[in-house]
Amino acid sequence: MRVFSTNPRQTRELAAGLVKKILASPPHRKHARVLALVGDLGAGKTTFVQGFAKALGIKNRMVSPTFLIFRKYGTSIRQPADNFQFRYFYHVDVYIIQKSSELNALGFKKILSDPQNIVLIEWADKIKRILPKDTIWVRLEHGRHEKERRIYF
Ligand SMILES: Nc1ncnc2c1ncn2[C@@H]1O[C@H](COP(=O)(O)OP(=O)(O)OP(=O)(O)O)[C@@H](O)[C@H]1O
Ligand SMILES: [Mg+2]
Repeated sequence: MRVFSTNPRQTRELAAGLVKKILASPPHRKHARVLALVGDLGAGKTTFVQGFAKALGIKNRMVSPTFLIFRKYGTSIRQPADNFQFRYFYHVDVYIIQKSSELNALGFKKILSDPQNIVLIEWADKIKRILPKDTIWVRLEHGRHEKERRIYF
């Protein structure tokens, strides 16, 4: 599916809409739910993460974890309908990673294996090899205007 976004707020709202869909879908039992974000510098990956995190009840301001690789946040989804699906939200940025194996030392396998985690990864194409098969891929592209983005998922 392709949608157009004409400003950052729209991109955040789109991400929030995706959270609703994910929470409404049957939970995984085997591993973390992973969203892989791809797109050029400034395409809007972090902006997307901001909207996504807010919809999971996370109040913190999302800053890019570029030099930290990942940050962990507790979600505050408490409606029974959500079934406590996800306890932890991870914002990951693998921009400075060269090989998937570099993530092993950081305990990344364990993060991906825990069904209580929802994990958003910027520049995820670099580590495609180690991501679950049912990863949701979201691609953001610059559009014709300064604030236009094309978002595919
Ligand atoms: N429609 C839009 N959607 C998202 N961001 C937009 C849009 N229009 C303008 N912007 C601006 O583009 C920039 C996107 O930056 P952002 O950090 O989200 O990109 P990124 O893909 O994470 O970049 P990086 O590769 O550096 O991590 C922000 O300054 C944002 O305000
Ligand atoms: Mg970013």
